[in-house]
Amino acid sequence: MSLSFDLVPGTQRTSPEKLTQILADPGFVKHFSDHMAVASWSEAEGWHDSRIENYRALTMAPGSAVLHYAQEIFEGLKAYRHADGSLWLFRPEMNARRLNKSADRLNLPQLDEEDFLTSVHKLIRIDEAWVPSGDEMSYYLRPFMFADEEFIGVRSTKSASYMVIGGAAGPYLSDALTPVDIWLTTDYSRTGDAGTGAAKCGGNYASSLVAQREGATHGCSQVLFTDAATHEWIEELGGMNFFVVTADRQIITPPTSGTILEGITRDSILALAPGFGLTVHERPLSVDELVTRTRSGEIVEAFACGTAAVVSGIGNLKYRDGDQVSTLSFTSGVGEATRELRQALVDIQWGRRADIYGWMQEVR
Ligand code: PLP
Ligand code: COI
Repeated sequence: MSLSFDLVPGTQRTSPEKLTQILADPGFVKHFSDHMAVASWSEAEGWHDSRIENYRALTMAPGSAVLHYAQEIFEGLKAYRHADGSLWLFRPEMNARRLNKSADRLNLPQLDEEDFLTSVHKLIRIDEAWVPSGDEMSYYLRPFMFADEEFIGVRSTKSASYMVIGGAAGPYLSDALTPVDIWLTTDYSRTGDAGTGAAKCGGNYASSLVAQREGATHGCSQVLFTDAATHEWIEELGGMNFFVVTADRQIITPPTSGTILEGITRDSILALAPGFGLTVHERPLSVDELVTRTRSGEIVEAFACGTAAVVSGIGNLKYRDGDQVSTLSFTSGVGEATRELRQALVDIQWGRRADIYGWMQEVR
């Protein structure tokens, strides 16, 4: 039976005055919106008790499995307000599918794709006043699932919770014009062969944070990871996929063969690129090739992409080179191909460009 995610009676809402204040400077989900979607799962009952209730602190037993063994997965997607006021999601069925892939890897229960979509559509509709209309402002949704059974001992949970929370979001990393500096680590990996890299699970992000701390000491807010076995191959950032562009308009991104998250933005960029005369290559990219061909002027642009980051031009890539730190610099400012791809993507998302791929889904 499908889950209905009905609104429980008597929930509270933020006053219009306070909401106006929040939406004037939303940061990246500095404030969560009034409601959240919730559903419970148990081995005996399957999914049940779906509802939309006020966003609130959870009561959780200290012995809950997720707090010890990190059996947790999540998703990220955005709702966009078009000029006519209508509300839209970008490829949400891809998030539904990926949540189930992650659930399979972490041995959490499958959630019917229709139930996922219902939870997301209903939450936005109920909190629609929270979807901003400013330039490149959106509402970021964070669906997640975790093991909430109380026990000590390593085994799969017999009960889990699914929730969707969200809030208004401005730029995560940078705006369209400001490039970011990235730390390339060859000391740490976020995941390894046959590990959980292709799943969107909390543990991958926890394991990335030591490298992020290292990057911060070199003025970089994000980290580009290499493969765990040799550290010779570029993989992806802690929360974004990675692309480079050559002077002769070839676009290269590493293949998502197990250790890299199958980004929905990445997939969309690969579809859009040929329309801009860019030849797409999904193939392994070594650190050596990246350094050599950037220094020789063949690789001219690099960018990170993801739901939160959209498409963010990379200015400098810093990395340890023997005893010193070297810097690899890309086109000053945000490069031409990066700008074209970013613009095409956001124009589709905000309804300013024909959605020829049928990516947008109107909030029902
Ligand atoms: N890679 C990682 C590790 C991520 O966390 C994300 C963000 O979701 C991405 C890539 C980009 O994926 P998407 O474009 O689906 O947001
Ligand atoms: C997203 O882009 O949706 C993510 O989940 C990445 C995270 C770093 C915010």
